[in-house]
Amino acid sequence: MKNICVVGTGYVGLTTGTCFADMGNHVVCVDIDQAKVASLNAGSMPIHEPGLGEILVSNLKAGRLTFTSSYAEGLKDAHFVFIAVGTPDDGQGGADLSQVRSAAKSIGEHLDHPVIVVNKSTVPIGTGDLVTSIIDEYRRPEARITVVSNPEFLREGSALHDCMEPERVVLGSEDAVAMEAVEGIYAGLGAPVIKTDLRTAEMIKYASNAFLATRISFINEVAAICDKLGADVKQVALGMGYDSRIGPSYLDAGLGFGGSCFPKDVKALIRMARDSGQHPQMLEAVMEINRDRRRWVIDTLVLTLGTLKEKRVAMLGVAFKPNTDDVREAPALDLIQRLQNAGAHVRVYDPAAMENAAAATEGVDFASDAYSAADSADAVILVTEWNEFKNLDLVRLRRLVRRPVLIDGRNVYDPAAATDAGFEYHGVARGIPPRSLPVIESETRARG
Ligand SMILES: NC(=O)c1ccc[n+]([C@@H]2O[C@H](COP(=O)([O-])OP(=O)(O)OC[C@H]3O[C@@H](n4cnc5c(N)ncnc54)[C@H](O)[C@@H]3O)[C@@H](O)[C@H]2O)c1
Repeated sequence: MKNICVVGTGYVGLTTGTCFADMGNHVVCVDIDQAKVASLNAGSMPIHEPGLGEILVSNLKAGRLTFTSSYAEGLKDAHFVFIAVGTPDDGQGGADLSQVRSAAKSIGEHLDHPVIVVNKSTVPIGTGDLVTSIIDEYRRPEARITVVSNPEFLREGSALHDCMEPERVVLGSEDAVAMEAVEGIYAGLGAPVIKTDLRTAEMIKYASNAFLATRISFINEVAAICDKLGADVKQVALGMGYDSRIGPSYLDAGLGFGGSCFPKDVKALIRMARDSGQHPQMLEAVMEINRDRRRWVIDTLVLTLGTLKEKRVAMLGVAFKPNTDDVREAPALDLIQRLQNAGAHVRVYDPAAMENAAAATEGVDFASDAYSAADSADAVILVTEWNEFKNLDLVRLRRLVRRPVLIDGRNVYDPAAATDAGFEYHGVARGIPPRSLPVIESETRARG
C-alpha cells in the first residue's frame, strides 16, 4: 500500500485517484474547486464516466479515498504526488501551463518531506524540468523531490477500463530508482512499461495523440475524394482496416475530432515544432482538414435548404463523442455557432452533455429526446454517435420533421433505410446513391 496524493480531480485525476484507491492504496485527491471536493466526498460524480461512480463510492466507504482542497492535508505522509491538472489551449496554440505552475508552487510551499512528483498532465516537452525548478524554488531543504513523467492515455467514456487495463505505461525520468518506484504502483496491472528520459516520455504523449488525429484527418480527406468519385468511405475504411499494418481504429470518416485533447495537443505540437525552427506541414494539414468537416455540414445544408435563415435545425448529440458529457472543442459547438451565424435556430438533444452544452452556448433550445428535438425541424443532423441514436425509428422521425433532410455526420444510418423512410439522406461519402447502383452494376457487367 502506498500513500498517494493526486492533484486535480478532472477526468484524469479523478479516474487515476479512484483506480489507485481501488488497487489498495491510500489516496487523497486535492482540488482547488471546493464545491467539487464537497460533492466528491459525498459520493456524487461531477462527470459522466461509465462505472466510475460505483468504484468511487466503494473506495470512499472503505476509507481509502478522500478529497480535500488543502495541499497540506493532501501531501501529509504522501510517497507520491501525481499532478493531473488541466493544460488547455492558451489561445495562441500553445499549452496553458498556469494550472501546472500553480500546482507545483503549492506542492513546494506545503511539502515537508521527500516525495516523487509524477506528472500525468499532458505537458510540452521540457515541462518536467520546469516543475522541478518551481518546486525547488518554494520547498523546504528537507523536502527533496524527483520528477517522473507518466503521461496518461485514457479515453473519456472508457476511462475506468483504460486506467485499470492500460495498453502501456510510459515513465520518463533521469532517476531510475524513482521510475522503478512509480512502476511499482502499476505492477499489478500487467501492462508493458516503457522507461525513458523525461523529454521522450512527454513527447510520446503528443506523438500518440497527433498520430490518432492524423488517422482521422486522413480518412476524412479520403472521404472528400470518395465523395467526388462515388466510392463509399465506410467500405474503404473497412477494407483498409483488415490489413494488420493499418488496423481498423480511428478510421471513421465524419465530422472530425474534438474534445479536450486532440485539438489542443496537435496545436501544441505544431507550436513546439515552430518554436524549434521546424515546419510542421502535416500537422497543420491535420487541423485544416478537421475544420473543413464542419464546413461540409453547412455547405450541404445550404445546398439543400437554400438559406439557413429562420430554419430549424435539430442536432442529435453535442458531446464530443459518445459516453461522455464533455463538450470541450466538440464539433457540435462549432456547428451551433456556424448555424446561428447563418440565422438558423438550433434545438439539441444529448443523453448526457446538455448541461455542459447549455453553459457553453447561447440561444440554443434543448429537447428531452431525439424525437422532440426533430419536431418541426427543417433538417436533422446526427453529430454524436450515441448508441441510443443508432436505432431511431426513422419513419417516426420523418413524420415529425417539417422537411425530411437528414445529415448523418457519423455514418450511423443505412442510406437505403433512411431514404426508404422518406429522408433526403446525406452521409459522409457513402458512395453512389442506392437507387443508382443497378446501373453501375450493369455497366460493369457489360464491360466485363
Ligand atoms: N480528459 C482526457 O481524456 C485526458 C486524457 C489523457 C490526458 N489528459 C490530460 O490530463 C490533464 C488533465 O485533463 P482533465 O481532462 O482531467 O482536466 P480537467 O480540466 O477535467 O480537470 C482539471 C482539474 O484540476 C483542477 N485544478 C486546476 N488547478 C488546480 C490546482 N492548482 N490545484 C489543484 N487542482 C487544480 C480543476 O479544478 C479541475 O478539477 C490535461 O493535461 C489533459 O491534456 C486528459
